Amino acid sequence: MSNQPSHRVAVIGGDGIGPEVTAAALEVVAAVGIRLDTKEFDLGAARYLHDGFVLDDATLEELRGFEAILLGAIGPAIGDTRIAGGVLERGLLLRMRFGLDLYINYRPFRGVEGSLAEGCEFAIVRENTEGPYAGEGGVLRYGTPQEVATQGSVNTRFGVERCVRYAFMRASQLERQKLTLVHKTNVLTFAGDLWRRVVAEVGESFPDVEVDYQHVDAACIYMVETPERYGVIVTDNLFGDILSDLAGAVTGGIGFAASANLNPERTGASLFEPVHGAAHDIAGTKKANPLAAVSSAALMLEHVGESDAAQRIARAVADFEGDVTSLGTDGVIIQLQESL
Ligand code: IPM
Ligand code: MN
Repeated sequence: MSNQPSHRVAVIGGDGIGPEVTAAALEVVAAVGIRLDTKEFDLGAARYLHDGFVLDDATLEELRGFEAILLGAIGPAIGDTRIAGGVLERGLLLRMRFGLDLYINYRPFRGVEGSLAEGCEFAIVRENTEGPYAGEGGVLRYGTPQEVATQGSVNTRFGVERCVRYAFMRASQLERQKLTLVHKTNVLTFAGDLWRRVVAEVGESFPDVEVDYQHVDAACIYMVETPERYGVIVTDNLFGDILSDLAGAVTGGIGFAASANLNPERTGASLFEPVHGAAHDIAGTKKANPLAAVSSAALMLEHVGESDAAQRIARAVADFEGDVTSLGTDGVIIQLQESL
């Protein structure tokens, strides 16, 4: 194993439980015999509060050169008002997604024992660089009774098509080849029509994939009542954000939910992060659930071409049976290492 090439990975532990869960994930990667050449980047709320730095062009360019970025969690403690909303979200996380053209947010879910969606496996493919997140809009007459705030949703044929194509590719790899478009075509008629046409057109190249459509409000009911109906869900940036939190909740909690911000063409480093936040209240107590970070690391290994190792980790996570709360972070990692 020692003559195996190592992969260059940037690690952004971030805030709260972020550094603990990324460290735990890296232990599991090491245990599966994969060598990583890591470089840590001190970014996030703590760094911002320390010296005002969020992310500059030079650092973004340096990050681009890695094979992958593993991120823990970013954000101040709840109630800490020293950082205005959006500073870190737009300045750091979204800047990496946009700047590195990470146009897919791939979020796989597996319903753990006792969850509403126990035994169900499905994935959300969320468009990650357009929609309302593109930042189109502005404010007029700020603070006056005549204030105007607009916030547009950007949907380009190029952006929708590459996202939908990726989603079909993923769906075609499933045993049950099914793709569900989620949108709100009855109200958001312009964007909705574009998404529908693109799904129909791209679908012609994937004749074995069954295609379904749901309005986003109905999808919220179905995801709770009949989550077994899904294979791959494809949707826009904002619907995907909301729906993936719901998916996390019905499959056992976002403590288990992994995500991959992908640039499938590899023109920039892809970014792997648990869906959960920084949970400052339990930071340092060894209570954090590392499984989402571990699963994110498995997605990272898949991306860098280490499929066997990725599958071994994914299987160990799927077979994991202990009680996370009583085992604690270290106990979970020991159990995973034993079943690798
Ligand atoms: C997520 C998060 C982010 C998003 C926030 C932190 C900007 O909620 O990754 O789902 O909205 O995409
Ligand atoms: Mn979210």
